[in-house]
Amino acid sequence: MKKFATLMAAAAIAGGFSVAQAQTPAAPDDIIAARQAGFKHVGDLFNAMKKGIDAGADVTTFAVGAKEIADWGRKIPSMFPKGTETGHDTHAQPTVWTDNATFNTNANNLATEADKLAVAAASGDKAKFAAQWQTTGNTCGSCHANQKFRTRL
Ligand code: HEC
Repeated sequence: MKKFATLMAAAAIAGGFSVAQAQTPAAPDDIIAARQAGFKHVGDLFNAMKKGIDAGADVTTFAVGAKEIADWGRKIPSMFPKGTETGHDTHAQPTVWTDNATFNTNANNLATEADKLAVAAASGDKAKFAAQWQTTGNTCGSCHANQKFRTRL
């Protein structure tokens, strides 16, 4: 594994990858602000979908947003590095770090279900989309219910 990392670093240098940038860690406050903005965006997308469902709208337009939510799910684990437990009015619970395996599994489940949500949206099947929206919402709940990983619902 270590050998692999060294190889990758060498490849990155050879490839002209911005090593300077990669080695400068972002300030904790910036990471917290970025993850809150990411969740806020996902929350807005998710609420807009609910409105669309209730209004009987064409769901194909939600495929792009669903993909964004899936991508966010894949990104969540990297947005909670050590050193970002406090500051910038974070509402992350200490459990994010003490039960990190569950946290990452939940994030992974969000990505999986939101990918299916994108497929359902693209199909144009409103009932299928509505059902999958609910299933995806349950993965949000896996972190938010009972304030498991966030100090607010
Ligand atoms: C892996 C756990 C996890 C999953 C899954 C998850 N969240 Fe969160 N969410 C969090 C945590 C932790 C925070 C607090 C981040 C902080 O304050 O640093 C948060 C914050 C938020 C916020 C507040 C953002 C702000 O303005 O500060 C919203 C809105 C939100 N999540 C919505 C959602 C929605 C909608 C979903 C599902 C599509 C979702 N979350 C899935 C853990 C999760």
